[in-house]
Amino acid sequence: MLPTIAQAAATARARLPAEVWDYYDTGAGDETARAEASTAWSRYRLRPRVLRPVGTRSTATTVLGRQLATPLLVAPAALHGLATPAAEAGTAEGVAGAGSLFVLSTRSSLVPSEATAGAWGATPWWMQLYVMRDRGLTRALIDRAVAAGAEAIVLTVDTPVLGPKRRGLRDVRRPDLLASLQPLLDARAADPEAQAPAQIPSLSDVDALEQDPDLTPEIVEFVREASGLPVVVKGVLRSDDARALADAGAAAVYVSNHGGRQADRAVSTAYALPEVVAAVGDRVEVYVDGGIRSGTDALVALALGARAVLLARPVLWALAAAGAAGVQHVLEDLRLDLDRSMALVGAADLSQLTPDLVTPAA
Ligand SMILES: Cc1cc2nc3c(=O)[nH]c(=O)nc-3n(C[C@H](O)[C@H](O)[C@H](O)COP(=O)(O)O)c2cc1C
Repeated sequence: MLPTIAQAAATARARLPAEVWDYYDTGAGDETARAEASTAWSRYRLRPRVLRPVGTRSTATTVLGRQLATPLLVAPAALHGLATPAAEAGTAEGVAGAGSLFVLSTRSSLVPSEATAGAWGATPWWMQLYVMRDRGLTRALIDRAVAAGAEAIVLTVDTPVLGPKRRGLRDVRRPDLLASLQPLLDARAADPEAQAPAQIPSLSDVDALEQDPDLTPEIVEFVREASGLPVVVKGVLRSDDARALADAGAAAVYVSNHGGRQADRAVSTAYALPEVVAAVGDRVEVYVDGGIRSGTDALVALALGARAVLLARPVLWALAAAGAAGVQHVLEDLRLDLDRSMALVGAADLSQLTPDLVTPAA
């Protein structure tokens, strides 16, 4: 039997070494932001419409113009290889089966060409990018993703330094491998057009200290120009930042507190989302993640103005519990749960999920 999210979590917890479970599960600091994420979605109440025809329903949508069967997408998470040897290739296969979209982490276990080699096929995927102090390396990362077929860059901006974690694997970095990038960097110094995407090792191997802590909104234009792709900016929690990023050329703003792994006591995304939608929802697409665990959570997020919702930990659990089939099943199960929740509030498609359907709990 393929697992639900709760079953996948229980199986993953039983199966994974404790330090891997903790690495996936942990939040930063005292883990307040991590712990509050799901609760925050459950503080909204529904205002169902009745007597609306809902016999034929659709969860189809588009993100950045891409047609998808579901608005439930896979958030970037480091090191899927800790869950199963198939690593991101297994996740990709499950995502393809579910008609969803996958965001590949900069710190993936597999490089993009490996992760996309198998069943991924025509499944759309985006590349999550940490901008490194070394812009040559950053450009090389972008080139590698573009060469492997990424359709957008998800620029994560909430990680100027790593949030302090008390649980889980400590050293998942292998700085020695940074040295193996040197030939490529040298080649690019001699010839800026030098293309050697497959030669860069997984960036889980690059020391986080190399990430640039001095970024400003101008970085959006750098990434846009370097990639030729739309730039989604991930890690936004405020209307002023959202406006600045839309002004700077972002194609989408992605509301996230990094699953509570960066600033502890960061506001829950369920509360940040309405302010960001109000600020830029008419100019750019808005996505959200953090603690989404049911179709009703997703429905609330979509009704509050998110165009898509993303999940990280449930996908890692599903991968550890049942591989690609587990990932596909968890995504499909959640989509069916969303579909049923839509019927119960009188919505036949995603355009009918509007803010009047939700209200804060008394
Ligand atoms: C184990 C783990 C690794 C993560 N690695 C990354 C990463 O490499 N890049 C990134 O932008 N976000 C990363 N995230 C954050 C997720 O993309 C996402 O914002 C968050 O986990 C969503 O919340 P959820 O796990 O409750 O669904 C990671 C999250 C987890 C749990």
